[in-house]
Amino acid sequence: MNFLHLDEQYLANFIAPHEWSGIQPQVALAARQLEQGEGLGNDYLGWLDWPVGYDREEFERIQAAARRIRKQSKVLVVVGIGGSYLGARAVIEALTPAFRPQGSQELEVYFAGTNLSGAYLDQLIAAIGERDFSVNMISKSGTTTEPAITFRVLRNLLESRYGKQACQRIYATTDKSRGALRTLADREQYDTFVVPDDVGGRFSVITAVGLLPIAAAGIDIGQFMEGAKDARALYQAPFAENACYRYAAARNILYRKGYAIEMLVNYDPRLHYIAEWWKQLYGESEGKDGKGIFPAAADLTADLHSMGQYMQDGRRHLFETLVQLAPDSDRAVPADADNLDGLNYLTGKTLDYVNEQAALGTLQAHRDGGVPALVLQLPGATPYHLGALLYFFMKACGVSGYLLGVNPFDQPGVEAYKRNMFRLLGKPT
Ligand code: PA5
Repeated sequence: MNFLHLDEQYLANFIAPHEWSGIQPQVALAARQLEQGEGLGNDYLGWLDWPVGYDREEFERIQAAARRIRKQSKVLVVVGIGGSYLGARAVIEALTPAFRPQGSQELEVYFAGTNLSGAYLDQLIAAIGERDFSVNMISKSGTTTEPAITFRVLRNLLESRYGKQACQRIYATTDKSRGALRTLADREQYDTFVVPDDVGGRFSVITAVGLLPIAAAGIDIGQFMEGAKDARALYQAPFAENACYRYAAARNILYRKGYAIEMLVNYDPRLHYIAEWWKQLYGESEGKDGKGIFPAAADLTADLHSMGQYMQDGRRHLFETLVQLAPDSDRAVPADADNLDGLNYLTGKTLDYVNEQAALGTLQAHRDGGVPALVLQLPGATPYHLGALLYFFMKACGVSGYLLGVNPFDQPGVEAYKRNMFRLLGKPT
């Protein structure tokens, strides 16, 4: 198995064959609306063909900028919120070590602009310390409060430390011609990269928004785009062999049966931020007009010791999607002469094997307890497979939104809190 594989066996008790065939015409219509640009929000479909149509010249500039960042700095601070950072973080956290090896000279990537906590910024600045650093400020609008305030602080720090050279350490990813950040970047001559007009934040990981931080982290973005490109080709197949359409179909059938919560679960901490990215993608795309599956996530086995009780025994309104990473470590359970914990029966077994049995046992228990599950098998934690995985979820999200009858590409609801916050803060009108 070299590509993503969708295992549907744990749906058998919940979705009947006639339901699979019954939804096919609707999926075909939703897919056509998406691919032909006939649906709601069709001016935001640039991501669909981006893996084959992206700007090669900008791609080269991204790679050059990444090399420069790695040469000039020990720390890169990525400033952005929502769709302007989650994709990059998901890929970087999946593909770089959770623990920094002692004495490592590798560039560290920090994320900021995701909150309004002064203490967080204090700690970030203390962590940078005397080390050389660069900033990638990512904002399509350029005026989003959290990243804009953070950028002010970091820009001041850069200017006080590097004077006129500070501009050579600021990389701006923003609209090609409009907005506050574009104006500032042009004036200060920052190196700039474009958030395409027809790509919304949560679909932007395969553009400069995701690619620059990912490349700066030392990850092969050529391979990442290859994975997305192959997924684009594969997920145009007919329904029977199209895992992407079948995932969208299963979600919709389950939703109509009252399963209103989807839990994206993993058995590997490397996938934690994939779930964070996925929550934003599906939450902002589907949660509108009083409709939508609520996207939740759990890190297993850890959360079996917290959420596990509810998942097994609570209200039956949730289904589960497991992203299962193929085993890739030889680390085994060691023997112990005393065997006080009674674990010697596992001696020599790899942790990955034990983990697989935990997943299997949990899937069976959940199925028997009334939780339908989909299993999406991910062959490896590689740039290629991550590119494919993210494209899979983005395309399935577009199809899911149309199946649900909403515009998956707008987010009118996120304005409400801002209006109140600005009023409370006395923003001039
Ligand atoms: O997905 C989206 O569109 C949002 O999450 C935006 O990415 C987020 O609000 C940040 O917006 P901006 O890039 O304009 O700062």
